This record gives sequence, structure tokens and C-alpha cells, in this order.
Amino acid sequence: MYRSSPRHFVVLPLYFAWRRYLRLAAIAIAIFTFWIRWGSAPMLAAESINPPLDSPPNLNSSLACTYDQRRFHRNTGIGKFYQRREIAKVIGHQDLFWLERPSREGEERPDILLNLLDIAPDATIADIGAGTGFLTFRLLDRLDENGRILAIDVEPESQDIIDFIARDRGETRVKTSLSTPSDPQLPENSIDLAIMLDAYHEFEFPCEMMQHIKAALKPGGRVVLVEYRRENPLIPIKTLHKMTERQARQEMAAAGLDWLETREDLPSQHVIIFERHPDR
Ligand SMILES: C[S@@+](CC[C@H](N)C(=O)[O-])C[C@H]1O[C@@H](n2cnc3c(N)ncnc32)[C@H](O)[C@@H]1O
Repeated sequence: MYRSSPRHFVVLPLYFAWRRYLRLAAIAIAIFTFWIRWGSAPMLAAESINPPLDSPPNLNSSLACTYDQRRFHRNTGIGKFYQRREIAKVIGHQDLFWLERPSREGEERPDILLNLLDIAPDATIADIGAGTGFLTFRLLDRLDENGRILAIDVEPESQDIIDFIARDRGETRVKTSLSTPSDPQLPENSIDLAIMLDAYHEFEFPCEMMQHIKAALKPGGRVVLVEYRRENPLIPIKTLHKMTERQARQEMAAAGLDWLETREDLPSQHVIIFERHPDR
């Protein structure tokens, strides 16, 4: 027979309260997790971000540029999402010593990258998100006196650094210019190749940037994205500074670029090559 004791008056209510609140806590944790992971525009009353005013409205894009702003996001990102990818915070001239770290040559093997790009010696190349010129000056080695590099970055300090090095080397084939966050300010039909080394994932307005870059390509011109492989969690680079090949191809398709090939010759990075269709 069940015999009540004074102890049960304390223990049982506590036990039931604990079970009840435990359940409530579990539900709260589930809602919170869901909010962080998927909470976007409608759930968080965030707005779609309009393209900035300096962006011309129509470059024959098949897609309007829309983004989501989320309140909860990784601290290495800006809380803004494009096609469900969070845009990374910029690693720029303040991180000069990271960009120019002595181990980088061996880690990224820019020599292999340049060999596989098959660059015409008289090409006009836009190095977009040029940073401190890690790639800019290596590209120059592949060009003759008719070749040109446009080193473009959103940070004026990057321009200063590259100008300084070019002057120091007496190099006249490099021209620096300042990009806005949404427009690399390149003339239409002016470049043979646009290359973005470890840069595209940081563009605050990737959709608008790619529309302008596409318009700047000569017919048959190529776009090359070099991005750390996000598919591989063992590559010791922050997640938002890596991209999957699938995501990159999806975003370039939205810009109206044709995928040509993906090369996996580099130790840790995809080299994903696109083309502006000759007729579009
Ligand atoms: C991680 S750094 C890479 C620099 C260089 N490509 C390298 O590999 O050393 C990315 C660069 O992209 C630049 N960047 C970010 N958004 C940009 C934009 N919208 N237009 C041009 N450059 C941009 C940053 O200022 C930064 O210098």
C-alpha cells in the first residue's frame, strides 16, 4: 500500500515542476535554435536590403538582387545572406600580415593556379579584391609589355599599398582603382579575365558586383573564383571564408555566367572558371 510521508509533499511537487520546466526549457531551446539557424526576414521582421543608390538599376540581369538580414549569425559574418550564404566580414589591409604570411605561397600554390589559367600575354586582367597585391604581382610575370592588370579593391589603403609596390618596382602595367561595395567601376567590354582570389565571399553586394563584372568582360571573357573548399571541414580556415563549389556555381548562374570547369589542382582551394557567353 502506498504510504504518504511528509517528504513526498516536498519531493513530488519538485519532481513534477522539474519535469514540466525541463520540457518547457527543451521547447524554448528548440525555438531559439530554430530562430538562430533559420530566422530570416519574415520571422525576424528583417527587411530585404535594397541595392545602394550608386548601382545602375538594370544590367539585363535575369534576377533581382535580394538579401536577407538575420539577427543571429556567425560572428565572422555580417549577418547578411545571399542565396542562404552568410557574407563574411572583410579581411583587408589591417590583416596585411595574414595576407602576406610567408607560409601562404606553400599553402595556396599561386604558381599552380597561374599555370592552369592559360593566360594570354597581352591580356587585360582585373584582380578584384586585390588586397595587398599577393596575386597582382604574380600575375604580372605572365604578361608581356602589352598586358595590363587592374587591381581593384574597396579599401583605399589597398590601392596605396599596391601603388607603392608598383612604383618601387618601376612597374607601369598595374593600375589600381577603387571599387564601391556594389560596383568595381570597370568599363564595359574591357577585360579578358576577372579573378577573385579569396575575395568574392566578402563582397557585401555580390549580386550587383557580378552583374557589373559580367558587363565588363569582353565576349568570351572569363571569371575565375578561387575559394577555400568549404566541403572540407579539416581545412583550417573560418567557415565563412570558404565556399562550396555548388554555392559558387549557383551564385554565378544567377549572374548569367556559364560554368566552364572546376579545377582541383590546388592544395585547399577550388578554382572555378566561368565564361561570359559570346552572345549574351
Ligand atoms: C581576404 S582579402 C584577399 C586579398 C587578395 N585577393 C589576396 O588573396 O591576398 C579580400 C579583399 O577583398 C576586398 N573587398 C571586399 N569587398 C570588395 C568589393 N566589393 N570590391 C572590391 N574589393 C572588395 C577587401 O577589401 C580585401 O582586400
